[in-house]
Amino acid sequence: MNFYSHTPIICKSSQVTIIGAGKVGSTLAQRLAEKDLTDVVLFDIVEGLPQGIALDLMEAQGLELHNCKVKGTNDYADTVGSNIIIITAGIARKPGMTRDDLLKTNAKIVTHAAQKALEYSPNAILIVITNPLDVMTYLAWKTTGIDSRRVMGMAGVLDSARLQTFIAMELNLPPSDIHTMVLGGHGDLMLPLPRYCTVSGMPITELMSESTIERLIERTRQGGAEIVKLLKTGSAYFAPSSSACLMVEMILKQQPRLLTAAAYLQGEYGLNDLFLGVPCRLGCQGVENVFEVNLTQAEKATLNASAQSVQENIKIALASLKE
Ligand code: APR
Repeated sequence: MNFYSHTPIICKSSQVTIIGAGKVGSTLAQRLAEKDLTDVVLFDIVEGLPQGIALDLMEAQGLELHNCKVKGTNDYADTVGSNIIIITAGIARKPGMTRDDLLKTNAKIVTHAAQKALEYSPNAILIVITNPLDVMTYLAWKTTGIDSRRVMGMAGVLDSARLQTFIAMELNLPPSDIHTMVLGGHGDLMLPLPRYCTVSGMPITELMSESTIERLIERTRQGGAEIVKLLKTGSAYFAPSSSACLMVEMILKQQPRLLTAAAYLQGEYGLNDLFLGVPCRLGCQGVENVFEVNLTQAEKATLNASAQSVQENIKIALASLKE
């Protein structure tokens, strides 16, 4: 009698912890497992929620044909030995709410989560998704004191993917032909760079009118809000989880690509002591390199305004942690 199975049951050598088993966290757990990338520990404060999602995902394992374990927990001890910790915990944006409205509540949640998770995985790389993103990433780093290269925020991949989609829709071309670059804060002051956006090597400035580009840029800036408005409860989670999944994949597989992440700046772009979206090389060490691209005066002014807004919110958030 011949026994053969599609894939051997093996344990993955990597483990990723996702803190917050809400829409983004659970979809990310699904993507990581179903891409066969890594074992996942899903943590939440709500009892039963991460366990239920993990069990549901495991019950699909034989159908999706992956070999990753997903475990749900309310105990940080179960996250021990993780290679990457991803923080999605917090309150999601509601209609009419800006990202900055979330500042104080999420500051407490994110700093506590980062500290607790690193207690059990002291060598982990930290990816922050909770909004307001650039501020939360700074707090996670500042309150844990780990090497800044091991901390990054997920925003640039998402913002660039949104612009890529809008250009693809406008030109009726596949997104895979389109490369986009969006720098700056994950907010209304983000800095899409049309000069660095190309379609199969051709700058979009050659293919679209200025007013069309401006319309697509504005839609990208409002990309999160557009979805909040449509959903009415909650915010985007499919594209955010895809973006985080790509970052995890690059780190775990050690297949670096140049992409935008919120990275700690120490003089790059003339900015200091903040996390902001810049082109990076991500690898197993975390943010291995920050690339500086030439900016026009107007672009520099937008980046500076974005940085100033982030820094003001960092001050408010740090003060709120002492209240
Ligand atoms: N520790 C762990 N989990 C927590 C904590 C905490 N202290 N506080 C809240 N949570 C959990 C909630 O129980 C919930 O399951 O965080 C989860 C958040 O999930 P959702 O409300 O579904 O939010 P989601 O859409 O996943 O967005 C999460 O990502 O894109 C950002 O703006 C978004 O900041 C938000 C985050």
